[in-house]
Amino acid sequence: MKHTSGLHHTNSAQVRTAIDEIPEALRDTPIEPISSAPSPLSRLLAALAIIFGLSALGLAATIAWMWFTPTVANRDVRDRQTETPALDATDDSADSATSRQPSRLDAAEDTSAIESPAETAEDIDLLGHLPYSEAPLDELVPVTSDGFWELREAAANRFLAMQAAAKADGIDLTVLSAFRTTTDQQALFFEVKAERGQVATERAEVSAPPGYSEHHTGYAIDLGDANEPETDLSVDFERTEAFAWLEANAAYFSFELSFPLNNEQGIAYEPWHWRFVGDQDSLETFYRARSNNDRDRRSPSDQSTEKTQR
Ligand code: DAL
Ligand code: ZN
Repeated sequence: MKHTSGLHHTNSAQVRTAIDEIPEALRDTPIEPISSAPSPLSRLLAALAIIFGLSALGLAATIAWMWFTPTVANRDVRDRQTETPALDATDDSADSATSRQPSRLDAAEDTSAIESPAETAEDIDLLGHLPYSEAPLDELVPVTSDGFWELREAAANRFLAMQAAAKADGIDLTVLSAFRTTTDQQALFFEVKAERGQVATERAEVSAPPGYSEHHTGYAIDLGDANEPETDLSVDFERTEAFAWLEANAAYFSFELSFPLNNEQGIAYEPWHWRFVGDQDSLETFYRARSNNDRDRRSPSDQSTEKTQR
């Protein structure tokens, strides 16, 4: 037979009555028994504590990651900046014309916020010649009856007007060259250089390396005198009537001589080579190229002195 204590035989009403009889101050047991299972409130608090703990851990990990990542990025930027002056060191070699092409593309990427020496290095001349982009082909208009030589539309219109005015004065201006692609210039510079056994500096006195010819712009034209073809592309052209007429009248049609005697670029005198500077784009093309070059060729100390003097 199972033994049971007397308490087990009392019902809850009896327990309550018994407790009620003890003065409240002396009671050491609560009226309602406390369940051993946690209350919903304490479960909620525990869950909140866990969530808060995990969030704090996550936040600490994120801060640690962000702290480390910029350190790596900064190192990459520094490396690029210290590598770039090496490009300047090869500035006099013809190879640098082609090795600069990718850096030009790089500059268009979203590193624009970083002031990179590569962006300015690409504006510097090569053997005295300034860098020029090719004119868009759909902006070119023929200036010869066979359609072979072309200029940009504004330049073409003014040239044809100038040629007609010269004709009216008895001068027959012939077109010897106008727009040329960088591929055309490639052959003109390297193949002719090899044929003539010229070194790069020698060739560059009379011809621009590819990417550096004013003819790429669609604003430059080489002119001859139809009455004296033996002077074509020669300094002797300066003695022709055509040259005298151009000197007196070309500015009225917004053409100017690109390479006069003793020009700042150090390019050989080219009395036959004229360029159009008669609209905003042509003006910026030639004069911005020149100012960029002047600025970039100055030493950093010259530039900082200039800034403080302004
Ligand atoms: N003939 C000059 C140098 C040029 O191509 O720009
Ligand atoms: Zn020319």
